[in-house]
Amino acid sequence: MGITYNEADRVFYLQAGDTSYAMQIYKDGYLAHLYWGKKVNKINPEELIIKRERPSFSANPDVNDKVFSLDTLPQEYPAYGNTDFRSPAYQIQLENGATITDLRYESHRIFKGKAKLQGLPATYVENDDEAETLEIVLVDDLIGLKAVLSYTVFGNFDAITRNVRFINDGKQNLKLLRGLSMSVDFIRNDFDFMHLFGSWARERHIVRETLRPGIQYIDSKRGASSHEHNPFIALLSRDCTEENGEAYGFSLVYSGNFLAQAEVNMYKTTRISMGINPFDFSWLLEPGETFQTPEVVMVYSDRGIGKMSRTYHKLYRTRLCRGKFRDSIRPILVNNWEATYFDFNADKIENIAKVAKELGIELFVLDDGWFGHRNDDTSSLGDWIADKNKLPDGLDNLANRIHDLGLQFGLWFEPEMVSPDSDLYRAHPDWCLHVPNRSRSTARTQLVLDLSREDVCEYIIDAVSDILRTVKVDYVKWDMNRNMTEIGSALLPATRQRETAHRYMLGLYKVMDTITNSFPNILFEGCSGGGGRFDPGMLYYMPQIWTSDDTDAVERLKIQYGTSIVYPASTMGAHVSAIPNHQVHRNTSLKMRGDVAMSGNFGYELDLTKLTENEKEDVKKQISQYKSLRKIIQFGDMYRILSPFGGNETAWIYVSENKEEAFAAYFRVLDQPNAPIRRLKLKGLDPNRYYVIDGKSGVYGGDELMYIGIAIPQLNGDFKSVVWRIKAK
Ligand code: DGJ
Repeated sequence: MGITYNEADRVFYLQAGDTSYAMQIYKDGYLAHLYWGKKVNKINPEELIIKRERPSFSANPDVNDKVFSLDTLPQEYPAYGNTDFRSPAYQIQLENGATITDLRYESHRIFKGKAKLQGLPATYVENDDEAETLEIVLVDDLIGLKAVLSYTVFGNFDAITRNVRFINDGKQNLKLLRGLSMSVDFIRNDFDFMHLFGSWARERHIVRETLRPGIQYIDSKRGASSHEHNPFIALLSRDCTEENGEAYGFSLVYSGNFLAQAEVNMYKTTRISMGINPFDFSWLLEPGETFQTPEVVMVYSDRGIGKMSRTYHKLYRTRLCRGKFRDSIRPILVNNWEATYFDFNADKIENIAKVAKELGIELFVLDDGWFGHRNDDTSSLGDWIADKNKLPDGLDNLANRIHDLGLQFGLWFEPEMVSPDSDLYRAHPDWCLHVPNRSRSTARTQLVLDLSREDVCEYIIDAVSDILRTVKVDYVKWDMNRNMTEIGSALLPATRQRETAHRYMLGLYKVMDTITNSFPNILFEGCSGGGGRFDPGMLYYMPQIWTSDDTDAVERLKIQYGTSIVYPASTMGAHVSAIPNHQVHRNTSLKMRGDVAMSGNFGYELDLTKLTENEKEDVKKQISQYKSLRKIIQFGDMYRILSPFGGNETAWIYVSENKEEAFAAYFRVLDQPNAPIRRLKLKGLDPNRYYVIDGKSGVYGGDELMYIGIAIPQLNGDFKSVVWRIKAK
């Protein structure tokens, strides 16, 4: 690991894990990109920037240098308007209306460790030897604008993080119209473009398309990272598979509106840009003010998508997630949402909890409907006071009853929302996002509180903290069930209205930081109608997230497989629910439902009192099986073997870091008549060790299990699964 600067050829050279990244101060201060890829010990910069005279349609900033145009220079943080015709990384409007800026190198510093990002979530180090950081200051002297480009390399990860801080050191107001977190130019375009696409209940399906000339982008304008597009893209070499080929991943540590784009221009270069969505955004920078962009985590893999994912998994699990629960095994829970919806009282809850305890479950989670007069989704959000009709003896009494059974107690909140039918809204109708004289669109009969306001943030902190101080709560599910419309704030001046969505995120992060720091012994799980905000920003505050509202085992194969492209199993809530499934009305076996849910943070979400005695026995076995496996699943390395996007079968394996233990799972959706006989080639084991497999008598070489494979037993019928518990001998 390390960052060096070579004064002679003005080259910055970054080494992170097994990847190298190089930049050069070019001509009179342009910051050129030289290389990013597999680690190399030395580069020749003069070989990397090829000068060639172009027709007049690529213009020249320097009248005396006909072979120099920004249109052909690979750059680190490009502008628009002074010869580069590609999409810029930033754009600033001056008081005279002009949008031309010209940032040039001014200075740099290299230091050990990694600085915290002001007000924003980011990866971190636990001691300064883990990483090194380079800050390059670019300046536009004419207007006093500075941009501090920050690059951190991690010693143990093939990862480089980037962010930008704008500083208005001039005398006039500057309006940031676009301020992305990073931009990088590749002098090639022979890539595929991969991203994670979906909708509510169908999150993070993998899309892989050929990179075309022009712009391919994903974004969110929803005020949340969204179910539709995860803030992640990758460029893959055309031959890239799970195990081979090159993968470049870009993951934005942010939970709001974002843009992630690839642009192939006429010279067949590829520019990747990522950051806060410039659409409907601007930020006024008065003299002396600064603006901090979110962080992008860039991962390089020379061994396929699998290695890229494992880099993200470990980095996010150990250096993005924080707090007491980061390294502790997560409890098996039962959640009452699909069991009761809004129709419950204390006795009904206690009865479910009693069975949960018998079966070995560790945590009971009381979901939506415990507050105000919320018997359906049309009221009470914002009034965080227990409903006396459902819980006549109070919430604390119910929490105590659950604890008396020997279970932990968890509670649902949706703190960012307000129902029009609520005391909160009646008292503060201006506390929601809205635009004067326009109607306020509702979704699920609710409005979004304006978290760009400090008073609103204070209210949320107090309301949630009051409950957490007075009721014995071990776990909180933090939900958010609609996207933003009529994005405006009653407190911001006209010139700052387009800052509302980002100010909301800053407010939200502050609220989450305050609450999670005040209650370090509570495990927080994020949620947004399932996985509508399954992003690295959230994981900084909450180490696990409810992956999807779709609990069907077959649907979950795609959702969990797609999610695993970036996020580790320890972050993915996965529950066994009742059949027919509530989202797709499918009947799958209890075994398959269990095996799928076991590949994440395991739990149940059904009325346990309705299980037959046989089902209870099976559930007991699943629970004790997961208890013995969860360390491997939650903290091991994941290898994907068969993709649900490729057909009828899915398989993956989790291997402990020391390769002593593994858990492999195979799923087949539909039966086939007269099916072919197949073996499953495992991955990630030690080829030089011998392993035993629960339920099998032989001893197997790691090489044998990986290169010859394990026999898939005959399975009759639809929705089948097999799992193998593997231990080194
Ligand atoms: C959406 C969540 O994803 C569900 O799990 C549940 O908590 C409901 N909201 C409750 O309203």
